[in-house]
Amino acid sequence: GHVLCVVGARPNFMKIAPIMRAFSAAAVPIPCRLVHTGQHYDAAMKASFFTQLRIPEPDLDLGVGSGSHAVQTAEIMKRFEPELDANPPRAVLVVGDVNSTIACSLVAVKKAIPVIHVEAGLRSGDRAMPEEINRILTDQLSDLLFTTELDAAANLQREGIDPARVLFVGNVMIDSLMQSLELAIPAERTFERFAEPLVAGEPFGLVTLHRPSNVDDPEVLETLLDVLCEISADMPLLFPMHPRTRAKVEAFGLEGRLASSGIRVTGPLSYLEMLGVMQRSALVLTDSGGLQEETTALGIPCLTLRHSTERPITVTEGTNTIVGTAADRIFAAYREFRQTGGKAGRVPPLWDGRAAERIAGKIGDWLVAG
Ligand code: UD1
Repeated sequence: GHVLCVVGARPNFMKIAPIMRAFSAAAVPIPCRLVHTGQHYDAAMKASFFTQLRIPEPDLDLGVGSGSHAVQTAEIMKRFEPELDANPPRAVLVVGDVNSTIACSLVAVKKAIPVIHVEAGLRSGDRAMPEEINRILTDQLSDLLFTTELDAAANLQREGIDPARVLFVGNVMIDSLMQSLELAIPAERTFERFAEPLVAGEPFGLVTLHRPSNVDDPEVLETLLDVLCEISADMPLLFPMHPRTRAKVEAFGLEGRLASSGIRVTGPLSYLEMLGVMQRSALVLTDSGGLQEETTALGIPCLTLRHSTERPITVTEGTNTIVGTAADRIFAAYREFRQTGGKAGRVPPLWDGRAAERIAGKIGDWLVAG
């Protein structure tokens, strides 16, 4: 029997890569198959990640594409079920909190196939966030829950999940980071894309935004872009833009504002380009979950443009500050960064590059115990 690994969206790719490598490298290798749901399909959102992270081509691509949450989730479920019938796995392994994660978990559990969730137990406390619903439900359905930080176990216990099924192993996202840093594409190469290149050696900030709560509402997005424009008059900003955000900026007619600022906008960067620019950035401003973790691992100050985080250890131990989306609070945090050089932190326990190895070990034991 094999373990069926599922990926769907960009933040899944850097989590599955080290896990699949650890499965092959285990003392008793763990056979696996890979399904890509096709939730993310653009070359910039998918293909470059498979190549750079050395993920094997998926055994199956469900090709679901975009849609409303209901349509996308339902379509994944319909197309995933026949794979379970054709090649019944010993377990289905899902990562993170995207629609592909909950959709495949729900199909598997109803067929009495055990679900393994990597990155379990994270909670923002904000149920308006689609990922929060995906997290809560996936954890309820899972047989084996691997966590990245110690707080997660308490969240799961509060929701009635048997602690015996919860295993603290560390953060596979940081495994990928550590395995890839020496391959990172130098920031200078990415700067060359711009008519007015950033100057190597001069401080710059890195920005990403894609949460529906930040980009789908014209007023919120306009405020955030205005704040970023003003910051960019003091320190240039590099803004690799998610397709969702790009579509909203165009729909709301906000391109002009960006063009006349110190913000360099580009399409989504590949993983190795992103690592290259992140490593060199003085400050990161983001609403991404992964970037909150990566900046903590790299010791780069991060301002999170959200009202909550499901990754509190990046605040208590790491370099992250939750600043919300109000202009005055973001400016205040930016001024503090300018005065102090930004928040220092330390790397959280077990973010050591070996989480996938621990996961493979535990799954190996669990398969033997049957
Ligand atoms: C998804 C995840 C989010 C994750 C993010 C990372 C869910 C609920 N959300 O959000 O947690 O942080 O991925 O990127 O699963 N689009 C393209 N090309 C693509 C994919 C998407 O153009 O390859 C555009 C489409 O207009 C689409 C929109 O982006 O409608 C949103 O895509 P979707 O997969 O629904 O969610 P994300 O916003 O990417």
